Amino acid sequence: MKNDLRFPKNFVWGVATAAPQIEGAAFEDGKGESIWDRYSRVPGKVLNGDTLDVACDHYHLYKHDFALMRKLGVKHYRLSIAWPRVYPNGDGAVNPKGLEFYSRLIDAMLKEGITPWVTLFHWDLPQSLEDRGGWRSRVVCDAFGPYAEAVVKALGDRVKNWITLNEVFCFTSLGYDGGDKAPGTKETTKVMNQIYHHAIVCHGLAVRAVRQHGGKGARVGITDNPLCPIPVTETPADIAAARKVYAGASLRLLDPIHRGSYSPAYLKQAGADRPEVRKGDFDLISLPTDFLGLNIYTGPFVRAGKGGKPETLPYPPDFPRTSCPWLYITPQVLYWGTRFAHEVYGAKHIYITENGCGYDDEPLVDGEVHDLHRRDLVRNYLGELHRAIGDGVPVRGYFLWSFMDNYEWQDGYTRRFGIIHVDFKTQKRTPKLSAKWYAQVMKENRLV
Ligand code: NOJ
Repeated sequence: MKNDLRFPKNFVWGVATAAPQIEGAAFEDGKGESIWDRYSRVPGKVLNGDTLDVACDHYHLYKHDFALMRKLGVKHYRLSIAWPRVYPNGDGAVNPKGLEFYSRLIDAMLKEGITPWVTLFHWDLPQSLEDRGGWRSRVVCDAFGPYAEAVVKALGDRVKNWITLNEVFCFTSLGYDGGDKAPGTKETTKVMNQIYHHAIVCHGLAVRAVRQHGGKGARVGITDNPLCPIPVTETPADIAAARKVYAGASLRLLDPIHRGSYSPAYLKQAGADRPEVRKGDFDLISLPTDFLGLNIYTGPFVRAGKGGKPETLPYPPDFPRTSCPWLYITPQVLYWGTRFAHEVYGAKHIYITENGCGYDDEPLVDGEVHDLHRRDLVRNYLGELHRAIGDGVPVRGYFLWSFMDNYEWQDGYTRRFGIIHVDFKTQKRTPKLSAKWYAQVMKENRLV
């Protein structure tokens, strides 16, 4: 094909999951309670009262799952480590069985020729830490440092790609600022600023752990989900307006990490609510990283209003979206989200660590799920990613969320994000049409 959408040589194609969403075995082999184990049991918090107790039972079925990955030609897999499996109370005594499990998991993956990309924190804070203040308190940083070190020491001989934290906005703002995620509280602005500060300190602690104990060839970065505005028209004025909104939305996270301090704009905005910063914090926070991970699903449309002032437009009621009300279908977000990360923060190695879509009720038809909506969405998004690469944005890889249907947090098991269908009663896995399509994309390194 003359104009085929081919990706660069060595482009990393993969799939992603997270421990709490797939493992199950929530209280097995010494695992401690996480804030999600607790939160899911509070009536009315999670759809149908679904818990993480069994999920996809990956804890027992992992060998089968890796064999399936291999069959699809998956070569890169992003997973996470459950902190409460390694430290049931968050700190104190390590649970050897937890580390042994992950060691077996990594071995099994490598045996199938799959390269691990390991996220150290994907929202499952040990409940014991929450009981002692959670992210509001420095206690989390004190515990996270040793946890990160223990994991990197145990797996660093085989794991070379590390991700410090996943989507800070979700476990901070949506967890502590009146959102719908665990622990589900509502804190003051001052506390929220402190929570964000603790998160970026933890990011730094994880970077340090990888540098000190990761061995040769270890690489580390954060996975963020910044607000990614899309210019209504691709004209200089609208692009500038969208870029302004982009930069303004990351003052508590990507900005201080890359700048090595809080910006004057942030300090002015925070005023008396600014966080307490300890000596040496910014030495950690600004430790250089090797890549930037971005989870990008959707973005708002922005244009230059009066005097060039950015104007964010509300979506009209009939704007296309998936079964997740927040997931408006906006393929261009992959173009602008990666381009702005490159332009604003100078990111030189960008990985899309998540992108995909969730739909309800994807029934099996003659043993197959005809998820043409997913295939179409992913293909259109990837077309925009291809365009970004063509324009010189250094995107090095793409991980589809998710390998299989799993626990979608407050939406329980209703929203299916997988390219593998999971029957949660029998644990039977069935590749959907999108899995077969994506397998071909990975194989040919181009959009098919
Ligand atoms: C972001 C999160 O990292 C992941 O856990 C979640 O399931 C997906 N997006 C879909 O909402």
